Amino acid sequence: MKKNINFLLGKKHDGIPVTMLTAYDYPTAKILDEAGIDSILVGDSVGTNVLGYKSEQDVTIADMLHHLRAVVRAVKTAFVVVDLPFGTVDDPWTALENGRLLIENGADCVKVEGWGEKKNVIACLAENGIPVCAHIGYNPQIHGGKAKIFGKNALQAHELIESAMILQDAGANILVIEKVPHEVGSIVSSKLSIPVIGIGSGNGCDGQVLVIHDILGMGERVFKHAKKYMNFWYLASEAVNKYKSDVVSRDFPSEENSWHMQEEQLRKIEKD
Ligand code: KIV
Repeated sequence: MKKNINFLLGKKHDGIPVTMLTAYDYPTAKILDEAGIDSILVGDSVGTNVLGYKSEQDVTIADMLHHLRAVVRAVKTAFVVVDLPFGTVDDPWTALENGRLLIENGADCVKVEGWGEKKNVIACLAENGIPVCAHIGYNPQIHGGKAKIFGKNALQAHELIESAMILQDAGANILVIEKVPHEVGSIVSSKLSIPVIGIGSGNGCDGQVLVIHDILGMGERVFKHAKKYMNFWYLASEAVNKYKSDVVSRDFPSEENSWHMQEEQLRKIEKD
């Protein structure tokens, strides 16, 4: 059964953490969906993790559509959230036009980076029937590539909590909170009635999201907020090097990977 916002709300109500991971392509989305991950985020982190861009600010709506469609083709049950990229949420009407495009292409919900200042954008999307996920704390689109922790002092923590409430009141259905102290993640989760999904925000949130590349070890960087469950980079390099030496030594392809002609057919060519 396809998961929806009510399903995520039910998990919050029952105190069961919501699981969310990023995916940008068909096979990864299929692995996550078959594993029963609740929600897949087609994040604009596709830019730095897959497309070789320097920054999230280089990601376009065309990039998001391309990767969203690949993910949607694989998904049977997960709730698909997709980022509205840099430059598409500067005003409510641009956000609405782009939000509609993403929903028409299979997204269940669109994500908007920004704190309380994004109130009108979130309200416009929600009023026009587009499910929306707000994203506060560290916002790569806005703050650039150098991540830092927000809300370490009471003043900024207060601003984050207030932003979360403003965005919920504006109509947000979910909130992602990135890189804030554990205490702030827990307070925001307890104050809001919508599911609050944390990244680098402690385990008191209603759910957790990570970038798939970080848990599989697909990138060379290691982040404090993430956990590497395997070293894909190392394993993939090892496999590629083994393939290279098998080709050079003619151990690949072997008999097992080859087809043969029948004797009499072969003789016919050899005669020519
Ligand atoms: O784009 C992304 O992957 C994100 C997550 C880090 C929350 O926004």
